[in-house]
Amino acid sequence: MGVFQSEGKVYQPAAEIDLSAGSHEPYTHANVKAPRVAGLLVKIFVWILELWIVGPAVVYILLKDNLVHKLVSFAEVPESPMFRASHSVEDLQEHEVTCVDPYLTPPERVKEAVNCLPESLETALLTGFKRWTIQDFSTAYNLGETSPLKVAKRFLSALEESSVPPLKMAFFISYDADDILRQATESSQRYEKGTPISILDGVLVAIKDEIDCLPYPTTGGTKWLHKRRPCTEDAACVKKLRSCGAVLVGKTNMHELGAGTSGINPHYGPTRNPYNINKVSGGSSSGSAASVCAGLCPVALGVDGGGSVRMPAALCGVIGFKPTSGRLPNSGVLPLNWTVGMPGILAGTVEDTLIIYAAIAGDTATCQPKSLLPEFNLPRLKSTRLLPNIKFAKYGKWFNDSSADIRSCCDGALQMLSKHYGWKTVDVTLPEIEEMRLAHYVTIGSECYTFLGTHLEKINYGEIGWDARIALRIYSSFSSRDYLNAQRIRNRQMQFHKEIFRRADVIVTPTTGVTAYPLQSDSFNTGELDYINAAALIRFSISGNFLGLPAVSVLAGYDTEGMPIGLQFIGRPWSEATLLHIAFAMQTLFIQSYRKPEVFYDMLKMEKA
Ligand SMILES: *[C@@H]1O[C@H](CO)[C@@H](O)[C@H](O)[C@H]1NC(C)=O
Ligand SMILES: *[C@@H]1O[C@H](CO)[C@@H](O)[C@H](O)[C@H]1NC(C)=O
Repeated sequence: MGVFQSEGKVYQPAAEIDLSAGSHEPYTHANVKAPRVAGLLVKIFVWILELWIVGPAVVYILLKDNLVHKLVSFAEVPESPMFRASHSVEDLQEHEVTCVDPYLTPPERVKEAVNCLPESLETALLTGFKRWTIQDFSTAYNLGETSPLKVAKRFLSALEESSVPPLKMAFFISYDADDILRQATESSQRYEKGTPISILDGVLVAIKDEIDCLPYPTTGGTKWLHKRRPCTEDAACVKKLRSCGAVLVGKTNMHELGAGTSGINPHYGPTRNPYNINKVSGGSSSGSAASVCAGLCPVALGVDGGGSVRMPAALCGVIGFKPTSGRLPNSGVLPLNWTVGMPGILAGTVEDTLIIYAAIAGDTATCQPKSLLPEFNLPRLKSTRLLPNIKFAKYGKWFNDSSADIRSCCDGALQMLSKHYGWKTVDVTLPEIEEMRLAHYVTIGSECYTFLGTHLEKINYGEIGWDARIALRIYSSFSSRDYLNAQRIRNRQMQFHKEIFRRADVIVTPTTGVTAYPLQSDSFNTGELDYINAAALIRFSISGNFLGLPAVSVLAGYDTEGMPIGLQFIGRPWSEATLLHIAFAMQTLFIQSYRKPEVFYDMLKMEKA
């Protein structure tokens, strides 16, 4: 295939690159050369890709055209590979935090988190739309205004209504009414006896169908994976939630195998956006984000391997939080990829994000002495306004590589933060963003294909959705050279980011480059290939996964069509508490303007506060 040989980029040593605002480093726009394809064309494309000889040649041309060859495969990279982004424990100096013993039980840690919450009075005075919080549920249960059982029944009828025409929201892949009612009855009995386990007792939580949770199979959005890999116990984070009394309400829909960003699943339906049911919800944790958005549950778990929690959170206008890699236990999460994916939290409010984070953090599987564990700080949200100056790093060309609505909305939010809290923005250059996206793509694709490898030999390809089949073809083409070069790029990026974090505390970006775009019915059975929108969705997500940095997406406003816009904060390793403080500051400034989604269920059935 010598005729296709392309030149690789020659990278300068990372240490020589100028990261100041005035740097001459070019910003490479995503050079996506692939039109949107759906329906019959997708099938034809699969047929071609799966042909002998011709298929691999077409994949080769695709990768060449989309710069994977130039920027990754054939590149000359001076750094050695860095295979995993693991972060040493550093002295972080976070402010307005409570340092918690990581060996406390989940209910004890939840209690610590509750002590960090501000009085709920502040939000009760609101005039605008408000989502019920964990605290609201627990208060209503304690006062006997309602019970977990009543809420569970309301949930089941809302879910049934939303699953059939005209809505067909496709929030969930599986839920078991008997199991839900049993948990809710037990919880109701605890309240009757006055012995709830924690503030989470009786609170509904949904789980992405990529995380093990009994009694459900873990499908990963497929029709076959659960038959080959049975779910035998709860994932570690699910176990912790259960031990706090949470009612686990089933498994949410997702992009098949997490191999896409639209949330269009050919087997279980496209998850619709509650703000406009004719638009996508984003993926891959589509069902978790949309369920929280629609009020079905205050919180849900997702998994984030390439922005999969933050992107749908942004598109659905809820909080999406991905802690530092290693902060949450990965056991019981499908290892669709090893070095980039981990669980994350979707929630309607920052307070609820904090409670769930406190409940599930800590990797109990690693029996490290406490001195080797990172500090486990919880932000005291009551005193967010006392935080000392925070410096945001902003790379203007990257920040601006988003739609006009997103750009102006996110800029406006930064100005508000500066005005109300005095937090300043410093301009920097973060080089090789597109290079990092492609290196991450090679990494996640290689890992996904390797994990599925032995299974794929034994299953009928007809059981796999069309768009996932295309992804798998591309993933299968990556070589050891591609993979190793990608890891060398990971090393460079780690150096760049470390340097940026010497100049600022937090990197700020829009969460996505586009807001929710229209769902087109030709994609329902085949999925769609829309690499232009996919690249724009994922543009700001990569460092969270490739470098394992903590990041949070917060609602910052709406576009001209009323679809939510997310603003993202990426922190230093282990700086979750600071990120949650900033997210809370954002929420405080903007909560008055939050809008109610078109599809919304009131699980407490009380008049708006
Ligand atoms: C990678 O794995 C994570 C979790 O393990 C998942 O959320 C994500 O969708 C996966 N992505 C791919 C492309 O396999
Ligand atoms: C980004 O866009 C804003 C206007 O939205 C403009 O003022 C600014 O100069 C742009 N920055 C860069 C680096 O292009």
